[in-house]
Amino acid sequence: MNPIEINTFTSDALPNDLETLQKIVLECHLCDLAKTRKNVVFGEGDPQAKLMFIGEGPGATEDETGRPFVGRAGQLLTKMIENVLEIKRSEVYIANIVKCRPPNNRVPTPEEVASCIPYLFKQIEIIDPKIIVALGSTSYRHLTNDKTPISKVRGKKIQFQGRILIPTFHPSFLLRNPSKKREAYEDLLIIKELLCEIS
Ligand code: URA
Repeated sequence: MNPIEINTFTSDALPNDLETLQKIVLECHLCDLAKTRKNVVFGEGDPQAKLMFIGEGPGATEDETGRPFVGRAGQLLTKMIENVLEIKRSEVYIANIVKCRPPNNRVPTPEEVASCIPYLFKQIEIIDPKIIVALGSTSYRHLTNDKTPISKVRGKKIQFQGRILIPTFHPSFLLRNPSKKREAYEDLLIIKELLCEIS
């Protein structure tokens, strides 16, 4: 059985409303990240958002606050949403592949992702966004099972569970590599155009 089949199966057993799902996730101890987390970062935003951003996993500030993308990378993501897409951050939904902080911000292990990603798939099903933006390679790879490097797929419109998925660079990567902001800006313009088309 490949991970996608496992995920689809386990997501089916989860509740179909966001509040009940959140209650379950806040109590989750399925993997060892539960032992070191301060807070579970469930995700936040408009539960009926047309646009959903998916990152990798909470960092230190997110772990402290229980909110996604509120540290330095989060501030950049907020600017990307508000200054380029020209919508409020509260109008989109923001979540992560894993909901608890991996120690020292390491990449989550395949086992951690396997136990956590059914929650994300259920969130996607409930929120039902038309467009999903995968932020960075970890997010893209675990959503699609495609190992193509992010630099090759960024800005492409990919059919994903009846939605359009657009991968782009992770804001943390952009902070470390500011010269890549131009390409991320181009990706955002594609997302903006798509948003116009669907609304
Ligand atoms: N990086 C992520 O991938 N997610 C967050 O919530 C914060 C930083």
